[in-house]
Amino acid sequence: MADWNAALYLTFEDERTRPARDLLARVPLAGPAAAVDLGCGPGNSTELLAERWPEARLTGLDSSDDMLAAARRRLPHASFEKADLARWTAPEPVDLIFANAVLQWVGDHDTLFPRLAQQLAPGGVLAVQMPDNLDEPSHRLMRETAADGPWATKLGDAAAIRVRIGSPAAYYDLLRPHASGVDIWRTTYFHPLEGPDAIITWLSATGLKPFLDPLEAVERDAFLASYRRRIARAYPTHGDGRVLLAFPRLFIVARR
Ligand SMILES: C[S@@+](CC[C@H](N)C(=O)[O-])C[C@H]1O[C@@H](n2cnc3c(N)ncnc32)[C@H](O)[C@@H]1O
Repeated sequence: MADWNAALYLTFEDERTRPARDLLARVPLAGPAAAVDLGCGPGNSTELLAERWPEARLTGLDSSDDMLAAARRRLPHASFEKADLARWTAPEPVDLIFANAVLQWVGDHDTLFPRLAQQLAPGGVLAVQMPDNLDEPSHRLMRETAADGPWATKLGDAAAIRVRIGSPAAYYDLLRPHASGVDIWRTTYFHPLEGPDAIITWLSATGLKPFLDPLEAVERDAFLASYRRRIARAYPTHGDGRVLLAFPRLFIVARR
């Protein structure tokens, strides 16, 4: 995929950071010495960790140069490093591994989740939130649009870039051998947005990327016009002129 766009991602900063706050609220640690924010993005999730534990040694990891630059500007006192989480291992055991809205972009969860849990110090916590929205109209209609246009061959594998996450039971079984307890919950947020175009702006920074990145500008405009017609039908306008974007998310907190 092309690089991420930090400014576009932050268009919906409050809505995107809310699940990170909800995840952090369930992390049962008083004062971790070292915490790692996987897929730190522009530093919005890292900032929550810094606010809760000002004394902790914080490291944000991300594969995007644009995101890392934004994170460094935002939190000059934290450390931010480029890393691919598909291969990352911690140089020393860490007290908290925090991963908000990133592991859905990293494959092979059967290997990844136990490996992350094994990077924890005794009593350490792995806290993960992942969108569970591939069957929502927002994402179903991306696949439908991709299959129904002159770009179909070019976009053949686009949907596979985003991982289809496992069931809560699957993550429980993966993590329980490495954890004294595993807390899992699922929440659906309903975001009132300013019409179908706002849904598209939201997703352009994230879920639409695998479908838009391979296309030329003209194809991209045509793809978005076709997708927009579908989105407008699937998300009716309410009395206040807004649409409601339903956004289910899966949360996992495992303590070593
Ligand atoms: C949706 S953003 C999440 C940002 C932030 N954690 C938050 O809570 O809003 C996902 C981030 O994961 C990063 N990312 C995706 N795949 C990655 C990988 N394999 N290794 C490292 N970072 C990755 C992207 O660059 C992006 O910054």
